[in-house]
Amino acid sequence: MTHRSTRRKAALTLTGVAVLAVVLAGCGAGPDNKQNSFRPKGTEAHKIYNLFTPIAFLAVAIGVLVLAGVLYVAIRFRHRPGRDDRPKQIHGSTPLEIGWTLIPAVILAVVAVPTVSTIFDLHSEPGPGAMTVTAIGKQWWWQFEYPKDGNGKQVVVADELHVPVNREIKVNLRACDPSLGAGAASCNVIHSFWVPELAGKTDVVPGHDNWMKFKADRTGTYLGQCAEYCGLSHANMRFRVIVQTQSDFDEWLAGQRDGPAVPLDQAGDAGDLFSTKFECTNCHTVSDSSASTYGPNLTHLASRSTFASGYFPLTKSKLVDWILNAPGLIPMQSKDCRLPPPATCVGMPSFTENTPKGKPTMTRQEAETIADFLLSLK
Ligand code: CUA
Repeated sequence: MTHRSTRRKAALTLTGVAVLAVVLAGCGAGPDNKQNSFRPKGTEAHKIYNLFTPIAFLAVAIGVLVLAGVLYVAIRFRHRPGRDDRPKQIHGSTPLEIGWTLIPAVILAVVAVPTVSTIFDLHSEPGPGAMTVTAIGKQWWWQFEYPKDGNGKQVVVADELHVPVNREIKVNLRACDPSLGAGAASCNVIHSFWVPELAGKTDVVPGHDNWMKFKADRTGTYLGQCAEYCGLSHANMRFRVIVQTQSDFDEWLAGQRDGPAVPLDQAGDAGDLFSTKFECTNCHTVSDSSASTYGPNLTHLASRSTFASGYFPLTKSKLVDWILNAPGLIPMQSKDCRLPPPATCVGMPSFTENTPKGKPTMTRQEAETIADFLLSLK
């Protein structure tokens, strides 16, 4: 063996080991990124996991067998210099043709039984004790609506979906928001609702009402993500599912039903800036937690731990940056848009660069005044 071919073999082996190491690293436990369907924390997620795991192992076993067969044939019957004996030809062999048609058909039929039954199971109507919430996908955030109380008032929140533990939750999935008007004008694009630790993903389609259900088996915070490309900030369209004990949840919901901690007309300078000078009230409300709006309902903003679709922790400095120039923080169609939203300008306008038509530029002091007010809205 020459020196050169030994070195080539060593290099190939090293590359092989490195590739294997990278692949196996994906199987490591690692810190929990909270978006892991291999760590199910809810009934539906467990069912999907229990279906996926045996089928994945079966697929790997079949893949290994087929690859091993291909490699065996390629090596065993390879061309050798000085030998041109052809191996026995089997084209048209009836037993083989029947065999490799029947075996995959049987395997697929076996796989289909638990798959189809799980699909029906995941979409069976939830029981009578289920709580129904509506999730509306917007560009690029989620609005959650809770059932009406005795006075016919719903609760509308953004970004953070609170639910009680061990209770079936039916999530109505909507891309249209009829409270913003009738027809296509109030419809958004296609999104997909996905909380990997709790359940599979379900598309949110304009004009087609979907629903999904989940039941979390322990309290905690679970990360969700829009799973259908929906424009510039699709990747930033996150949300949180906050699973609480029933009593904590009831307390939270009661708090959300309350009126604002500081009514807008008693908010002083902040009130004037928010409603008159910068017309934030065109898209947001700070005084009615039952109202659906173009932008997130901010009536109880300070009760949340994040904002901007869960992208940023709710801190004053981040909020000030956001109020001044939101499209500078995450990509939005409003970046170069001088029309007042919501026409074709999707997302928050910038109040420092290229401000909406007729709108003045905002100073940092003004943004801080607005942020202080918003952060008082517990
Ligand atoms: Cu909404 Cu992607």
